[in-house]
Amino acid sequence: MAPDRGGLRVPPAGSVTVGTGSAAPYEVRVESDLDLSAAVSEALPPGAAAVLTDSSVGPLHADAVVGALAGAGWEISEVVTVPAGEPSKSLAVYETVLRRLAAAGLSRDGTLFALGGGVVGDLGGFVASSYMRGIYLVQLPTSLLAMVDSSVGGKVGLDLPEGKNLVGAFLQPRLVAANLDWLLTLPDRELSQGLAEVVKMGILSGGSFFDDLHEYLGPARERDAEALRRLILHSVRYKAAVVAADERERGLRAVLNYGHTVAHGLEAAAGYDLPHGEAVAVGMLAAARLSHEKLGPDLVEVHRDLLRAAGLPLSVPATDVEAVLNAMGRDKKRRSSDGEGRYRFVLLEGIGRPVHGVPVTASEARAAIGSILER
Ligand SMILES: NC(=O)c1ccc[n+]([C@@H]2O[C@H](COP(=O)([O-])OP(=O)(O)OC[C@H]3O[C@@H](n4cnc5c(N)ncnc54)[C@H](O)[C@@H]3O)[C@@H](O)[C@H]2O)c1
Ligand SMILES: [Zn+2]
Repeated sequence: MAPDRGGLRVPPAGSVTVGTGSAAPYEVRVESDLDLSAAVSEALPPGAAAVLTDSSVGPLHADAVVGALAGAGWEISEVVTVPAGEPSKSLAVYETVLRRLAAAGLSRDGTLFALGGGVVGDLGGFVASSYMRGIYLVQLPTSLLAMVDSSVGGKVGLDLPEGKNLVGAFLQPRLVAANLDWLLTLPDRELSQGLAEVVKMGILSGGSFFDDLHEYLGPARERDAEALRRLILHSVRYKAAVVAADERERGLRAVLNYGHTVAHGLEAAAGYDLPHGEAVAVGMLAAARLSHEKLGPDLVEVHRDLLRAAGLPLSVPATDVEAVLNAMGRDKKRRSSDGEGRYRFVLLEGIGRPVHGVPVTASEARAAIGSILER
C-alpha cells in the first residue's frame, strides 16, 4: 500500500544506469512503492544472502524488505543490526558483522543487502568487498544522503580513531534500489543533510538540475514524492557521470568536494558534533565568497536562497578559526606538495562551471571562514 500523500501526484518509476570502467554497469532505481522483489530479480538470480541494517532503520523497514526478498526466492540466513550512527563504521563493528556472516554460513556466492543510510552502506560495502574475498552487494539506501551520494560511486569503508574514511575499498554494487516511501520516516534534520549534497551537485551541474532546485527543494522538504524523485535522479545522474569520468578520483571527481574543504575543517574543529550537511552548507557559502573574490562571479545570494529553501543554516556557532585551518591542513585530500599555509579549493567560475585545485592563501581562507561563523 502506498502511503497517503495528501493528494500529491505519485511519480512514475525512474532509474539511472551507472556505467563503470572496472565492473558491470548497474541500475539505480528510485521509485515510490518500489516492488523490491521485481527490482532485485531483474538484477540478480536469487540465492544465499544476508541483510545489514541499523537499530533505527531495522525496526521500521527490515521486515518488509526480508519479506519481499524471501518472496523472490532469496534465502536470508542472517539479519545483522548494528547501532545507528557513525561509530558503527569501525573495525570492531566490521569484525562483528564478518563473524555473524561466517557463523551463519554465508557462502562466497552470497549477496549482502545494505539497508540503511550511508553508515550501513559504507560498512556493508566494505564487508562485501572483503568477506571471502568479495561477495555481491546490493545497496538499499534509506536516507536521502545515501540515495543521492554514498550509494553511488563505489567508495566503501570505515573510520579509524585517527580520522574518517581512512580504511576502504572500491566496490560497485549490483543494484541500488531506493524506495521513496522509506524517506517518510527519515527525521527532518537528516533530510536536510541530504539536501545539502543535492544543492551542491545542482550548483556544480547547472542546467535543468540547477533550475529544478528552485522549484523542488521546498516540496522535497514536505516529502513530495515527485520533487524527491526528480532531485534524487538528477543527483545520481550527475554523480554517476562525474565518477564514470574519474572512477579512481584522480582529478575531475575532486569537484564533488565543493564546500567540503571548509566543511571538513569545521567538522574536525567541532569534534564531529556538527552534522556533515550543515558543515557543507556553510562550506559552500565560504567557497562562494572566495569564488567572488578570486574568480569574479557573485553567487553568494544564490547560495543563501537555495540553502534556506533546503532548511540548512547560513552560519555555524563561533569556533576557533585557527583550529579549522589546522584541521583543513590535515585533510588527506590536500596534496603534500602544497607549500605551508596554502589550501586547494574547488571554486566556481559560474553555475555549472566548477574549477578544482584553486590555490587559496591562509589569510583568504581565514576571512572566508570568519564570514560563516555566528557573531
Ligand atoms: N561512500 C561514499 O561515497 C560516501 C559519500 C558521502 C557520505 N558517505 C558516508 O555516509 C555516512 C553518512 O550517511 P547518512 O547521513 O545516511 O548517515 P547515517 O547512515 O548515520 O543515517 C543518518 C541517521 O538516519 C537514520 N535513518 C536512515 N534512514 C532512515 C529512515 N528511512 N528512517 C528513519 N531513520 C533513518 C539512521 O539510522 C541514522 O540515525 C558517513 O559515514 C559518510 O562518511 C559516504
Ligand atoms: Zn559530503
